[in-house]
Amino acid sequence: MTTLPDSKIEIPNSTMATRFLTGITPSGTLHLGNYFGAMRPAIELQARGESYYFIADYHSMISVTNPEARRRYTLGIALDWLACGLDPARAVFWRQSAIPEVCELMWLLGTLTPMGLLERAHSYKDKLAKGIAPNFGLFAYPALMAADILLFDTNVVPVGKDQKQHLEMTRDIAIKFNHVYGETFVVPEERIAEEVAVIPGLDGQKMSKSYGNTIELFGEEKALRKKIMGIVMDSRTPAEPKPDADKNLAIQLLRHLSPKDIATDYENRLRAGGLGYGDLKKALFEHYWNYFATARARRAELAANPDYVEKLLRDGSQRARVKASVVLQRARKACGLE
Ligand code: TRP
Repeated sequence: MTTLPDSKIEIPNSTMATRFLTGITPSGTLHLGNYFGAMRPAIELQARGESYYFIADYHSMISVTNPEARRRYTLGIALDWLACGLDPARAVFWRQSAIPEVCELMWLLGTLTPMGLLERAHSYKDKLAKGIAPNFGLFAYPALMAADILLFDTNVVPVGKDQKQHLEMTRDIAIKFNHVYGETFVVPEERIAEEVAVIPGLDGQKMSKSYGNTIELFGEEKALRKKIMGIVMDSRTPAEPKPDADKNLAIQLLRHLSPKDIATDYENRLRAGGLGYGDLKKALFEHYWNYFATARARRAELAANPDYVEKLLRDGSQRARVKASVVLQRARKACGLE
């Protein structure tokens, strides 16, 4: 076994550094859309400031009610992120529920969060429209998310467009609190990564768990090969030229998973005619599989050491909690709770 990196976290002591924070809800297995849309950009940010990344297990309670599943997903997310390059020596990485301060802050914020604001939340309205009976947790979700962000004096929240409204709500709540109780919270920047890739799923729609069109990041080789080989294409013969080669789903995925010239080469061959869809999909599978080879090996190594992973999360929670208690105390004082 190779030596795993030391888990001591050194946070740069410059108070000027940008602090990035994001949460990952443990409600399933990660797929290519999660990887290129959220994970890779967040991992790249580690070099550019202080990274605070956590597993949002409190949030998962809205959709997952099986404790074993929650444990499994939580460990899975930790393994996925560590395998893909989250560096515990650089980033603070923890489990949300290890820092109960976040719940207290949610209450403080909740008392200033207008009902109308929560009622306008897309995520809430979408669930209502689907016929899901709403509960307090679903309704309060944006307030918990605001607490997640404000508890750490966060400057930037690297999330995709789907979280834009939640971020605006966080800003509104912070501004209101600062107005009512005096300057207390850092108002996070509204920086939504426009350039973040939208990855098409197996059916050509945006890759999303709710569409059931995902390619998992890590999984069993045979099943994943079958999934990719099963991508439905049209009935044109291999010999036919395909002027729309750039729109081909396998080509679009290859652009993310192979070096640029290789993807371009496949695109040109498809356009010219002579390249069959079966061969193209085979190539796609090979590139996909190789792309994650290092991460897969690292993940297996970590999975064999769950105690080490637990320890990393515990260390991360300790570090995060130091920051959280300072900010919570500041907020409590501002409110006259002490
Ligand atoms: N709501 C986010 C999602 O579903 C997860 C999340 C929870 C989060 N708390 C956060 C993201 C705080 C950024 C900041 O993806």
